[in-house]
Amino acid sequence: MKRTSITIAALAIFAMLLAACAVPATAPSAPAEAPATGGEAAAAAPTVNEAGYRTDLAGTTIKYIGDSMGASFEFEKKLAAEFEEQTGIKVEMIEGAQSATERLAQYLQQLGAQSSDIDVYRIDVIWPGILAPHAVDLSAALAQQNANYFERIVANNTVDGKLVGIPIYVGAGLLYYRTDLLEKYGYDGPPETWAELEEMAKTIQEGERAAGNPDFWGYVWQGAAYEGLTCDALEWQYSNNGGTIVEPDGTISINNPAAAASLDRARTWIGDISPEGITTYKEEEARGVWQAGNAAFMRNWGYAWALGQAEDSVIKDKFAVSVLPKGDGSDGQPAATLGGWQAMVSTYSQNQEAAIEWARFITSEDAQTRRAIEVSQEPTIASVYENPDVIAANPYYASLLPVYEQGAVARPSTVTAELYNDVSTTYFTAVHQVLTGVTDGATAVADIERELQRILQ
Ligand code: GLC
Repeated sequence: MKRTSITIAALAIFAMLLAACAVPATAPSAPAEAPATGGEAAAAAPTVNEAGYRTDLAGTTIKYIGDSMGASFEFEKKLAAEFEEQTGIKVEMIEGAQSATERLAQYLQQLGAQSSDIDVYRIDVIWPGILAPHAVDLSAALAQQNANYFERIVANNTVDGKLVGIPIYVGAGLLYYRTDLLEKYGYDGPPETWAELEEMAKTIQEGERAAGNPDFWGYVWQGAAYEGLTCDALEWQYSNNGGTIVEPDGTISINNPAAAASLDRARTWIGDISPEGITTYKEEEARGVWQAGNAAFMRNWGYAWALGQAEDSVIKDKFAVSVLPKGDGSDGQPAATLGGWQAMVSTYSQNQEAAIEWARFITSEDAQTRRAIEVSQEPTIASVYENPDVIAANPYYASLLPVYEQGAVARPSTVTAELYNDVSTTYFTAVHQVLTGVTDGATAVADIERELQRILQ
């Protein structure tokens, strides 16, 4: 049960994502040729400030549908104020749905109607294949950034040679655990397997309840029927050698006993180490229980770190982060689903030049450094991990090297491209039926297979 975590030398985190840092770097300069779009001062030659952002577009207002989780909406509002101060471009912030599934529906409604209302969309790592037709190619803007973005994410965001979004931050599923409680109950490190997690969660839960906290739970995670469940369930099945639903070569692999068993196992947690209501939990509901001090373990993304460590947090300095457990198979390996968000400029925007400047601003090395320090959303630029302030604010970056060495697991969005949302919806709907006892793992994976054959034929 011991884990050699926490003090592995800082940097190379996200090593797998880094690969061989990509993207040609050029010094910031004014765009060579900006498309003349309505509503902008097209005649004047572009002028730029010291940081390389255009100042000749002052007076333009753009709309950005931004972050929604935790403190990051407020953080982006702050960036918008600074951007306006520097460039004279005003950014109106719109808060999108927390659920990625609902958010995609909102976006498709806007974009499907070719609405010019929103200029910049924050898009999920799984959407480039779906949203490519509505996106401005940001390759030239990326080249202006003078930064080494993770090659894997840039490749993920490139569809038929078009860069659909510039990476804002990357994510991976993480196991949060209460260091004080592990110590109290005699555990010397976080669980390595799901069986160990179950045993530890149960022991701590029973102990804490007996000690007078009836609201205490062993493990909280994302069990609602939405994209987040696809992320969690992919981790269960992949860590149990159950594949990635659809493999990178297009093979539909979901119908296998290891995947089925991993879903059945998760079902047993409900009402035992996880609340009955978990089948309605998204990230923030899970964090609510955790943040109140009422859970021993939580599966979540990086943003929960900064919130847990806030001054007024009851769990401040009482928790750590590790890789998620692995299945029981002898060659099972821990799995972390790859997440993260990118800035996309809509082709229907009437203010594309100003929109591109904002997309550059929020994805810049400076913004990513501050984002990591203030709201613990992981950078997509390798050099940011070398910043001692970033590591000091997020010591868990240093302990996560093993996750990234073995690779964050991608959902099958590249291979299924514009059909990914149908694939994921089929998957999380059936997984949810296992969790709610409507069906069992073996039936569910067979049903998913049949439906995916139809969708992907
Ligand atoms: C996080 C991830 C995103 C994922 C979503 C699911 O926002 O960054 O990739 O789709 O969670 O809830």
